[in-house]
Amino acid sequence: MSHPKIPAKVLAELQRQLNQELGAAHTYRALAFWCEEQNLKGFARYFHKQIDDEQRHADKIAAHLIDRGVLPETGALAAPRHSFKSLLEAVLHAQALEQSNTQGVHGVYEAALEAKDYSAQVLMHWFIKEQVEEEQWSTEMVERAEGASCAGGMSDLDRHIERYLAQGVFADDPKS
Ligand SMILES: [Fe+2]
Ligand SMILES: [Fe+2]
Repeated sequence: MSHPKIPAKVLAELQRQLNQELGAAHTYRALAFWCEEQNLKGFARYFHKQIDDEQRHADKIAAHLIDRGVLPETGALAAPRHSFKSLLEAVLHAQALEQSNTQGVHGVYEAALEAKDYSAQVLMHWFIKEQVEEEQWSTEMVERAEGASCAGGMSDLDRHIERYLAQGVFADDPKS
């Protein structure tokens, strides 16, 4: 069966973003390990959930490529930062990660617009909405960490995050 060709620029952007999502999972794993070692179990669970989300994002792009007759290419991942001076520094790192992920998603979308690749545009609509939520959560984490600078405040905050997770506040799919 023959497939309509993916424009070269769009294909390159989709491959790049697929690997950016895998890189995000790798970074979140390092963040989760750091939190576990700091006994910040709530944050560790939050970051572990992010690993799953980012891997699902990579799989979503891979499925799109396969549906269009292209074998996804998984590349080498850079070693993530694994050590942080404080929880605030860790969540700032996560926020910067999400901001650069948004840039990556927008890059794919711009290429898809330019090439009039409608199916890639529709795929990216999901990611664009997802990034609004991801950035919102990462900003909330930064603001909460800024507000809880003492040790007691920090463990209260960590328990608060655990309650959030138990309530399923961090939904997987963007609201539509
Ligand atoms: Fe993602
Ligand atoms: Fe993300």
